Amino acid sequence: MSDTTLRNATDRVWPEDGVTRVPAWIYSDPEIYAKELKVFHYGKTWNFVGLDCEVPEPNSFKRSWVGERPVIITRDAEGEIHVVENRCAHRGSLLCWKNRGQAKDITCPYHHWTYNLSGDLMGLPFLRGVQGKGGMPRDFDKSKNGLTKLRVAVRGGSIWATYSDEVAPLEEYLGPEILMRLDRLVSRRPLRLLGYSRQIVESNWKLYWENSRDPYHATLMHPFLSTFGILRTDGDYHSVPLQEGRHEYTYSQYDPELKNKTSEASKQIKSIHSDLEVKDKEVVSSVVDEFKDGMMGAFQVFPTILVQQYFNCLVVRHVIPKGVGAHELSWTYFGYADDDETINRLRLKQSNLVGPAGFVSLEDSEVLSLMQPVVESCPDSVQVLEMGGHGTEAQSTMMTETLIRAFYDFYRREMGL
Ligand SMILES: [Fe+2]
Repeated sequence: MSDTTLRNATDRVWPEDGVTRVPAWIYSDPEIYAKELKVFHYGKTWNFVGLDCEVPEPNSFKRSWVGERPVIITRDAEGEIHVVENRCAHRGSLLCWKNRGQAKDITCPYHHWTYNLSGDLMGLPFLRGVQGKGGMPRDFDKSKNGLTKLRVAVRGGSIWATYSDEVAPLEEYLGPEILMRLDRLVSRRPLRLLGYSRQIVESNWKLYWENSRDPYHATLMHPFLSTFGILRTDGDYHSVPLQEGRHEYTYSQYDPELKNKTSEASKQIKSIHSDLEVKDKEVVSSVVDEFKDGMMGAFQVFPTILVQQYFNCLVVRHVIPKGVGAHELSWTYFGYADDDETINRLRLKQSNLVGPAGFVSLEDSEVLSLMQPVVESCPDSVQVLEMGGHGTEAQSTMMTETLIRAFYDFYRREMGL
């Protein structure tokens, strides 16, 4: 066995120069990955699992994930929301294979053990055996053999779960800046589910986590953004880390005149094709100014989601780790129950901006899946994060890696690296 194989995750040493350097082994070391799941997803965090419009009525369910573990969100007959592991207490079989639907109870396909929607074991076949033979022991206690239940918190239309009894209440975990942004999108009006996109990205989950904290690449790698003036490096833009790097938000004020301005910054971006026009302006401009604040932006709640608003397109990106070298991106598009046809159509049209084939997001999964084998092949290499200086403070620019540095400041403390 090689030295590298024997080396324990805790023996890993972060490079000098702190958070301006990120070692490539964090994207491929299976022990680091296992520790991340334990410390973060199964530790003292609140994990987003879904929206309440995905379980709209009593007796409905939706599959989701916390870390790698499959869970089921249920709404019981009384309307109460629960999150239970999607794992039979008997032999560990996956209980629910359907993405979402209606059910009064959950029956395991393997041996037909049946649970109610709050996860209690209600019954099992041949409990007393057949003709006096077989069956469960007399002292088998159904009340001790239910599904594993997670702690649940609901904020507006968003549903969160945790394995921890010690984590702070959800509102405290999110903090006032995230709460304000979350409430702006999901707490003022009842939500309407518009649809899903799902994709497997063959890269470590943190590469995507960094990507959504990386405004530096946005106008460079996504030509649609700069060409059609959705985002410009010379526009109003703010990158704000929160809770010493745990969460973050970014926002910009949309300026429809930006497209026609040439500046020092626009000259540096090769991807601006000023002779191109979008024929259908509805794709790139907010026809309905529904929030009355001209704000576009995103916020990230560690360790599960990025919530994003492009004009009238509202979407949650759920980042689900799938082994050290892959993650799933689950995109949930939503609007409001009282939306009229005009805005509903706009939301659907503008949803073309994001998702696996989105005009401003398809490049991300491509570049990250090509990056993963490279970082795996050079685990002792380091990445350079000096754009915008060496610090981790909020900055009013896109030309910064402050959000990624702030994330690794937080990450190193929590992981003991
Ligand atoms: Fe991107």
